[in-house]
Amino acid sequence: MEFELSEEQQQVKMSVREFAEAEIAPHVMEWDETQHFPIELVPKLAELGLMGVIFPEEYGGAGMGYVEYATIVEELSRVDGSVGISVAAHNSLCSNHIYTFGTEEQKQKFLVPLAQGKHLGAWGLTEPSAGSDASGTRTTAVRENGGWLVNGSKNFITHAIHGDTCVAVAVTDRSKGNKGITAFIFEKGMKGFAPAKKENKLGLRASETASVVFEDCHVPDENRVGNEGEGFLQAMQVLDGGRISIAALAVGIAQGAYESAVRYAKERQQFGKPIAEFQAIQFKLANMATELEAARLLMYRACYLKDHGKRVTKESAMAKMYASEMSVRVCEEAIQIHGGYGYTKDYPPEKYWRDSKLCTIGEGTSEIQRIVIARQLLRQ
Ligand code: CAA
Repeated sequence: MEFELSEEQQQVKMSVREFAEAEIAPHVMEWDETQHFPIELVPKLAELGLMGVIFPEEYGGAGMGYVEYATIVEELSRVDGSVGISVAAHNSLCSNHIYTFGTEEQKQKFLVPLAQGKHLGAWGLTEPSAGSDASGTRTTAVRENGGWLVNGSKNFITHAIHGDTCVAVAVTDRSKGNKGITAFIFEKGMKGFAPAKKENKLGLRASETASVVFEDCHVPDENRVGNEGEGFLQAMQVLDGGRISIAALAVGIAQGAYESAVRYAKERQQFGKPIAEFQAIQFKLANMATELEAARLLMYRACYLKDHGKRVTKESAMAKMYASEMSVRVCEEAIQIHGGYGYTKDYPPEKYWRDSKLCTIGEGTSEIQRIVIARQLLRQ
């Protein structure tokens, strides 16, 4: 067992850290307050290979594994979770769906520009009335003229507005339940496919979240991913990897909050000494650091198994569930250590805390993760 990153992995970590400190940190609060989605950052992320981390070089990717990928998402999220989730949704949802289930032609046409960062990816599973119950999809796709006529909508979609390529699922045979759902690739500019309402969110406000609407949208059959009826199963398998990203997002956010709490505890003087010298604060920091490490280990275990071709349904759900709930706790403690200042926007913890909350909801709520874990446990 190896509990340390290799030298190369450590270099990846440090280069992303330097990038995040230089290019993202100065803008974090402005982007948060104005809900500015930093699309201008994408070419720089692409230059570092971060838009195609987990894909082979032949498809324009960086050819790295999930260990590096989670490390990258963690480092970005340590500075700004909005950028972390953007890279995560692009890599592990949209692009990975095409990489895992697409044809060679689809990979050449769609994955290559995604992995190179020339195109931005979105992924559509959730609908207004199909959230946790993902197979309750109402969007329909009906065969017509060598393709499909799609009607419906998806919501809470990362990159719904700026995305160039969107993989989304629709019901192609309602009588077959979750085996009557099929995935399609939608391209920006397709007639009848358009973004709709942008959400005004509690946290991760610089990440773009909006709805997309399909109104008699004609999709050619060549944009169908896999066979008819495989869309739900594909989505579940994509989420197995996606949930590792949310664990990394949660760990990164908590790490940022923890570091700000340590800094503040050493600086802040009360009763004639730094508050870090009080055991009440030391116990908080000890708990925070320990929980953070536990979450990081769960995250890396899921990455390791995924990199070794193992199924990680249970492991990614455990990592996601624990890391996201840990993140909310750690961020809240960071606010508490900052006292009144922690409740203001002059110090970082309030934003970390707002951002952390999404991790317990996105890509399956904590409650859904417990269902996924329990079903796997009882099946073994
Ligand atoms: N790997 C392989 N097979 C899987 C699987 C997996 N991870 N998950 C399920 N399956 C299989 C099951 O074994 C089952 O197969 P059989 O029918 O042959 O037995 C089949 O798929 C159906 O599975 P379930 O019976 O478990 O299906 P369910 O309807 O009970 O739903 C669920 C299960 C876990 C609750 C699922 O609906 C779920 O994960 N819900 C949450 C969805 C979610 O995370 N949404 C967030 C999306 S993020 C987004 O859209 C926005 C964005 O931009 C980020």
